Amino acid sequence: MSGAGGAPSAHGSPAAAAGGLDALPGPRRVVLGAFLGLLLAFYGAAQVQLRVAAGGGSLPGPDAVLVRYHGDPLKSRLHLALDPARAETDPRRMYTFLGETDDDRAAAHRLLLGWVEAGAPRARWAEVAPVLTGAKTCGGCHARGADEGGLPRVKADLPFETYEDVLPSAERGAGMPLAELTTTTHNHLFGFAVLAALVGWIFTGTRWRGPVAVLLPLAAFVGIVLDVGGWWLTRAVGSPFQWSVIVGGALFGASIVAMVVLSLDEVATGGVLARRLRPLLAALRLARRDA
Ligand code: HEC
Repeated sequence: MSGAGGAPSAHGSPAAAAGGLDALPGPRRVVLGAFLGLLLAFYGAAQVQLRVAAGGGSLPGPDAVLVRYHGDPLKSRLHLALDPARAETDPRRMYTFLGETDDDRAAAHRLLLGWVEAGAPRARWAEVAPVLTGAKTCGGCHARGADEGGLPRVKADLPFETYEDVLPSAERGAGMPLAELTTTTHNHLFGFAVLAALVGWIFTGTRWRGPVAVLLPLAAFVGIVLDVGGWWLTRAVGSPFQWSVIVGGALFGASIVAMVVLSLDEVATGGVLARRLRPLLAALRLARRDA
């Protein structure tokens, strides 16, 4: 069934009876068009942010995902945060704060990692405490309470004031702390779910019918489950679940972008792109489109 324009519509749902997004009143199309356009900009910004944070202008690869959630058997979080190879633009780059001069930083780096690699002995806490608690080094941000200006310190949630505070960050092979994973899961699940529901709702109001009208909205939700579920499985088990994070994230992103672009096409151009895609998708038996 080529189905392109002439096929009678066999569904008769209210949305179809009312036409596609292009049949909506002008003000509604403006609202939808602006929303979808901004979502595309948001998505572009998120891609840039991921690349900048990863350094080197590429997306974080499977190894970076594995280390982030599961940990590296040889490295502690201090190793990772203090790695001088981290990009200058990476918000997790902490090497900069080790001291004022290159020499100070290199010496403090040797001191701290030497301590970690010796098993972070309590007896030598006094040697590393000046760097970790110093107001000009880590202590300016990684401390409880407020700074001189009365503002809460940036990393009051990860203080380095006592030996016990620092110990978890000095543990090698540790993955993402449970508290952080729970918080990020909580925040992301809500955001992802709302985005998938809104975009899926809009897309299912277009003239697209057939498998594509079901598969694209479904792919967004499956992507969320694979991505967020992958964080937990990677943390608990390690390889190969980093691939679930990567595939899930890609699936979510690709399906959202596809739905946004197709919806925007219908709302703003009356379906210029759709007319080009329709024969291809119909030949693949993936889609029909209402006239
Ligand atoms: C100017 C404030 C500031 C200073 C100074 C600072 N940090 Fe941080 N640190 C941060 C922020 C903000 C984060 C969270 C970054 C993020 O997750 O995007 C962080 C995160 C970390 C983390 C956790 C990284 C991870 O795996 O998520 C470690 C470990 C760390 N810092 C160590 C240090 C050490 C050691 C020093 C001193 C050499 C230091 N920091 C100095 C602000 C600071």
